[in-house]
Amino acid sequence: MANNEELFKKIISHAKEYGYIFPSSEIYDGLSAVYDYGQYGVELKNNIKNYWWKSMVQMNENIVGIDTAIFMHPTIWKASGHVDAFNDPLIDNKDSKKRYRADVLIEDHIAKIEDKILKEIRKASERFGKDFDEEKFRATHPRVLENTEKIASIQKRFNEALNQNDLGEVKKLIEDLGIVCPVSGTKNWTDVRQFNLMFSTQMGSVSEDSGTLFLRPETAQGIFVNFLNVQKTGRMKIPFGIAQIGKAFRNEIVARQFIFRMREFEQMEMQFFVPPGEELTWFEYWKEQRMKWHLSLGISASKYRWHPHEKLAHYANAAVDIEFEFPFGFKELEGIHSRTDFDLSSHEKFSGKKLRYFDAESNESYVPYVVETSIGVDRTFLAVFSNAYTEEILADGSERTVLRLPAVLAPIKVAVLPLVKKDGMPEKARLIIDELKNDFLCQYDEKDAIGRRYRRQDAIGTPYCVTIDNETLENDTVTLRERDSMLQTRVSIENLRKEISEGLRPLRF
Ligand code: GAP
Repeated sequence: MANNEELFKKIISHAKEYGYIFPSSEIYDGLSAVYDYGQYGVELKNNIKNYWWKSMVQMNENIVGIDTAIFMHPTIWKASGHVDAFNDPLIDNKDSKKRYRADVLIEDHIAKIEDKILKEIRKASERFGKDFDEEKFRATHPRVLENTEKIASIQKRFNEALNQNDLGEVKKLIEDLGIVCPVSGTKNWTDVRQFNLMFSTQMGSVSEDSGTLFLRPETAQGIFVNFLNVQKTGRMKIPFGIAQIGKAFRNEIVARQFIFRMREFEQMEMQFFVPPGEELTWFEYWKEQRMKWHLSLGISASKYRWHPHEKLAHYANAAVDIEFEFPFGFKELEGIHSRTDFDLSSHEKFSGKKLRYFDAESNESYVPYVVETSIGVDRTFLAVFSNAYTEEILADGSERTVLRLPAVLAPIKVAVLPLVKKDGMPEKARLIIDELKNDFLCQYDEKDAIGRRYRRQDAIGTPYCVTIDNETLENDTVTLRERDSMLQTRVSIENLRKEISEGLRPLRF
């Protein structure tokens, strides 16, 4: 198997070759950290969004969805803290003139130490086989212990420096760790500076009346400023949630790792409004619900881990990330934050309008507290896609590349394939597509030998192939081939829809 970097390159080229993701503006040599979704990519992306929407909005009586504008009143971003504090610490290397996020340089350094620990664990686990006790090994092995302590002390120093906004100390940490620029190989660093990540633009045609607007860096604020609109018109009773899926924009300094960190991306966010004092109970509830959602996709639990935040944002009283093991290591996929009453209170202050909930039972009105779940559509896409990419050697020695996508998310659900282009088989295939296309996205393919057509569908990730052959014409049965096992069963056309539906049903959320 290829190493992770090579594997990641293969995944990126597979995504392009099979119409999932293209670099934006490719004929003009692309635009950094911006991507376009192709014909299969858009289907997978829509399926991810629908899967989330269904589980959050349609399966929860007390959550409703909205769709707010990308442009918003500029004062919103003052109230939310984004104008003053939505910054990344950046540092330049004077020799290569390359710019980096100081926190990412430090994280990468930590990841290298983590790698050393994992290598020791892997080696020991191979040596001791099933008797291996990882927990005990971590607690006793001298080199592992030394490296674990090293990581803890770097993190402590870094968090303290950030908490005190001591950028000089961040630079000193980079120097003390001996971090070099990956391009020039030198330690010739500038000072660390803060850089605001919001994109701005002008609204209005005449320069005197035009105002500076920001492209929203998160969808959440559209929910906060509509809190009362939704609560009143929907007669919502606390606790309740408002969900939204939409574009967000961030002028990321370090744009790399494909669609992991983009400048234009999509978020799926839900703000859950609760009485003050109940937020930490609801925080635990949503942590559990969200992890269940991920596991319902059938991806191994070992691919996910929790990352509690040690350094909390000024508005939060608890925060945790769900990290996923991407080909480049464990990284944030989703954030769950207890945001207190910070946003609503701040919008009250800046807008001069009351944003309170009147509780008829207690006869009290208060600013609700908020628990937020926030996940990137594109990052979920990358998680699902990279996890699905598999190269296999089959029993006959041949190779196949298969996308083992969760069936419920796969772009094409059924490929309908006449064995040959004659004897009425294409016509029969068309009839079957007409039967199925209302329920499943189908694809017709008659080109090339049947084996090659199966491989093509495997590479796209199609869970089912239906093959029409001579027997079909005699007794109305077809071959139903399942992608992962490659098992073929004979099924009557009458039962096809039922068989396929069962295979596509997700686990429970
Ligand atoms: N409203 C809270 C919020 O925006 P965040 O942790 O900054 O929190 C939430 O973002 C999620 O959005 C992340 O967990 C990630 O999945 C996604 N995300 C953030 N920045 C991204 C980027 N530049 N490219 C792709 N996805 C991104």
